[in-house]
Amino acid sequence: MYLGIDLGTSAVKTVLVDDAQRVIASESRSLATVSPQPGYSEQDPAQWIDATFATLDALKASHADALAAVAGIGLSGQMHGATLLDASLRPLRPCILWNDGRSATECRVLEQRWPALREVTGNKAMPGFTAPKLLWIAAHEPEIFAATKLVLLPKAYLRLVLSGEAVEDVSDASGSLWLDVARRDWSDAALAASGLSREHMPRLVEGCAPATTLRSELARRWGMVRRPVIAGGAGDNPAGAVGIGAIRPGASFVSLGTSGALMAPTDRIAANPDRVVHTFCHAIPGMWIQAGAILSAASCLAWLARLFGVTEAELLAPLGARPQAPSPVSFLPYLAGERTPHDDPVVRGMLDGLSHGTDRAAIVQAVLEGVAFALADCRDALADAGTWIAEADVIGGGSRSAFWLSVLANVLNIPIHRFAGGETGAAFGAARLGRLAVSGEAIEAVCTRPQRIEAFEPDVALVDAYAERLPAWRELYRPRH
Ligand code: XUL
Repeated sequence: MYLGIDLGTSAVKTVLVDDAQRVIASESRSLATVSPQPGYSEQDPAQWIDATFATLDALKASHADALAAVAGIGLSGQMHGATLLDASLRPLRPCILWNDGRSATECRVLEQRWPALREVTGNKAMPGFTAPKLLWIAAHEPEIFAATKLVLLPKAYLRLVLSGEAVEDVSDASGSLWLDVARRDWSDAALAASGLSREHMPRLVEGCAPATTLRSELARRWGMVRRPVIAGGAGDNPAGAVGIGAIRPGASFVSLGTSGALMAPTDRIAANPDRVVHTFCHAIPGMWIQAGAILSAASCLAWLARLFGVTEAELLAPLGARPQAPSPVSFLPYLAGERTPHDDPVVRGMLDGLSHGTDRAAIVQAVLEGVAFALADCRDALADAGTWIAEADVIGGGSRSAFWLSVLANVLNIPIHRFAGGETGAAFGAARLGRLAVSGEAIEAVCTRPQRIEAFEPDVALVDAYAERLPAWRELYRPRH
């Protein structure tokens, strides 16, 4: 029996997976994000712990025997967040999250201070990443910077509480800008450019390797017969990849979660930081992930549902199963700024082409299309560095909408596939990493591809119609800085 815990942005999801890889139970507890100033995004690390413990306590209540038999735990998490700990390993302030845009100035300072940054880390310095957040802290909260003894990504903090040890996996560490992604190790020069050293960093392991073990008092609390091994785990996107067996070249996929991404596993680094492609180590040794990332995907639909005071299902129902033609309205999905390809934390969303005749359905369709167009930008940025996407699977909450997947197939002009249960991707992938860390099985034997339940094929007329709209949609973007 294995556990996968995904410390997401909107919730902690915990899944219990049996030896036949069936999810036998899952629990989720939501998380609150606060924005003390426009463009800021923070969470209190204490609520990650409370939420995680609540999921495990609930599993103990409902599935005590299965929980007792857990041998391995995998962690997955929202990437990039800066959790700063003092000498007693207590958080010094709320965690600054991946979608926080405050450190644009610090990105420029960092790249000037260390010109090899893009080459060594494979990425461009962007406010979402961890390193510029530390420069911001040094400049604006110097007493906190001085007191910082350890810097952890969100799931490494959770692991510290679960195990007493500071350990991180190389996929999540890739989003810090302190990792040499080719050597899969911390870069001393990168750390020095942020005023840090290896002393401030957790120990590194591969995602499928054992990292540590659950504290004995917690194993007792959850009735476990032995102390389960905790694997390295992965950032949420690489964990999602493991969950759908996307571990080798060609297995590209789209994630339609709070954020969105178009991802391709590669057996070599194909970085393109100038066009804001993200280069991460995969959770599988010897593999990397190239990704185009957008900051708002399914969250755009959630925003619209709040605005109209209805559920997302009510918004989607009138659209039917597939589009007849592009919406007359266009939408820029930059509600939280954008990464690929613009790296623009201050840009915001836009609705264009509204008229007296515009109805709600036209706006909903425009929102789904805007996200798809943004993913087309990601596809082009990946192609620029030689990563071609011929088809893609889809994971994340957005994969529930057939209409959205049809739009995606036509905008990207590739077949799109969905799986049963695509929504528990990252937690399930984490459970697989927990299993690999204990069993030592062959990676391919565990990271199988789930059955595809539906294919969305591009339709020539719609492909042409969307290809015609794309240049005008791109014209809507105007940098504000
Ligand atoms: C990836 C990214 C997001 C977060 C939150 O670069 O910023 O996917 O991991 O899900």
